[in-house]
Amino acid sequence: MNQEPGAHIPVLLAEVIEALQPADGEIYVDGTFGAGGYSRALLEAARCTVYAIDRDPNVAVFADKLARAFPGRFFWLMGNFGDMCELLAARGVTQVDGIVLDIGVSSMQIDSAERGFSFRQDGPLDMRMDASGQTAADLVNHSSEEELADILYHYGEERQARQIARAIVKARLTAPITRTGELAALIRRIVKGSKKGIDPATRSFQAIRIKVNDELGELERALAASIPLLAPRGRLLAVTFHSLEDRIVKQFFQSRSGETRGESRHLPHFGVTQKTAAAPLPLFLLPRKKPVSAGEPEARLNARARSAKLRLAIRTEAAA
Ligand SMILES: C[S@@+](CC[C@H](N)C(=O)[O-])C[C@H]1O[C@@H](n2cnc3c(N)ncnc32)[C@H](O)[C@@H]1O
Repeated sequence: MNQEPGAHIPVLLAEVIEALQPADGEIYVDGTFGAGGYSRALLEAARCTVYAIDRDPNVAVFADKLARAFPGRFFWLMGNFGDMCELLAARGVTQVDGIVLDIGVSSMQIDSAERGFSFRQDGPLDMRMDASGQTAADLVNHSSEEELADILYHYGEERQARQIARAIVKARLTAPITRTGELAALIRRIVKGSKKGIDPATRSFQAIRIKVNDELGELERALAASIPLLAPRGRLLAVTFHSLEDRIVKQFFQSRSGETRGESRHLPHFGVTQKTAAAPLPLFLLPRKKPVSAGEPEARLNARARSAKLRLAIRTEAAA
């Protein structure tokens, strides 16, 4: 997951720019700056202003470059996109015209062994995007067997979660697991490789990374933050790479656009549907229900793009 060659190429770039429709004078939030591919394209497309957020201090080198190339129009805010309202308010910005989130890890993070994200290269078992809080090693060495199995199952959809958790707990009795290579080797002894050539450690590494960085919690907080932040007709875009993330975005969009079909067909309706009974005005409109995927040429060039899904929602005038 996200450990593919080509991860440095901004995914679905043309589609993101087309959906954001950059215009002169507008303000955009690039919530996941990375190497700045989306930010640069926005700044080149119109005389707009971009506030880019990233929790990884290592992106400073790319941010400085853009700040120099687009003086007064580009600003990097270091922090979590879940805190976007507070980060922007500190700069006097309370309303924006578009927000884009490109969820997951960057190629810079994956490719540097010392960041501890990679199961391909040996490094310290770290996986923190922002060098704060608990590391992957803390999680692996101090969680109970049950907690580990839950993390691997829920965030990695790993069917052999229990066996892996048992093996981790057994191995750490001898010595703590501190290297990505050690953990990957342990997993490979349990899980068989797939016919598609996917490394057996892929799902477990994804799960641990998601937990260490609270990635799903952050995504939920960012989606909620977009409601008060977006101006009427403001666009909210999310590019996701696996079903856990896409489900969160899809359910958020459906529930805030009056499209929720959560109610059971088997419950009594007492003559009115839930939709008409207490339907608040929708906060978003969904121009298309299905996500946009990469076309054949992009998928061929960029392996990461193959699993990408872009969803778009447009803010209505309804009060937050
Ligand atoms: C896939 S990369 C983005 C690539 C970017 N679109 C580009 O064109 O280069 C994801 C970036 O989001 C950052 N990130 C992930 N979760 C974050 C969060 N909760 N808050 C802020 N940044 C986050 C990561 O540090 C990483 O740099």
